[in-house]
Amino acid sequence: MKFFIDTANLAQIKEAHELGILDGVTTNPSLMAKEGIKGEDAVMEHYKKICEMVDGDVSAEVISTDFANMVAEGKVLAAIHPNIVVKIPMIKDGVKAMKWFTDNGIRTNCTLVFSAGQAILAAKVGAAYVSPFVGRIDDSTWDGMELIEQMAHIYSLQGYKTEILAASIRSALHIVKAAELGADVCTCPLESILGLLKHPLTDIGLAKFLDDAKKMRSEMVPAR
Ligand code: E4P
Repeated sequence: MKFFIDTANLAQIKEAHELGILDGVTTNPSLMAKEGIKGEDAVMEHYKKICEMVDGDVSAEVISTDFANMVAEGKVLAAIHPNIVVKIPMIKDGVKAMKWFTDNGIRTNCTLVFSAGQAILAAKVGAAYVSPFVGRIDDSTWDGMELIEQMAHIYSLQGYKTEILAASIRSALHIVKAAELGADVCTCPLESILGLLKHPLTDIGLAKFLDDAKKMRSEMVPAR
């Protein structure tokens, strides 16, 4: 499973990259706004910086909702860098736009996916990625992981090439479950990635090893 980071924060992208696990980045308008990025030029510049930091796909989302403007906007985003994947919402014009991008050699990430039916449409129009929002489904009292499982089953049965990108990840457990259920990619906040590191027995075991090593070293000091 590939690891993407779900942020537009450059320091967090750098930290995940330095860990050696990062395969790409996803952003959305809310994440860009959180970083205080304002105006078209600043947005383009920010995407460029992200693409230069990470050797992997970077999802950049359109903010138009009609076919013509989604296509126009997506073309501009795709021209920023070869690793840009145009993120398109799962709406009727979005489906048409994704088909247009597929036919014109531009890769897309279908976002805001909450059902298997939507996932089938995204695959049919050749989206490179489809993003089921696990955490937001959990928030609505349904298990988001059931959707990942259902999508993985359908995609494998039908031989769809679209990669399942588990999104709206809220915990380290979400990442483990997404891997277990066959997601191709998981896009995560840095906190959830770092959560994978944690185990109290690791900390207890390391403290004991270091303590014993200290004793061993003091015993090894040669007498004068
Ligand atoms: C996906 O690409 C989205 O940016 C993201 O995962 C949404 O997550 P949220 O539900 O935490 O906002």
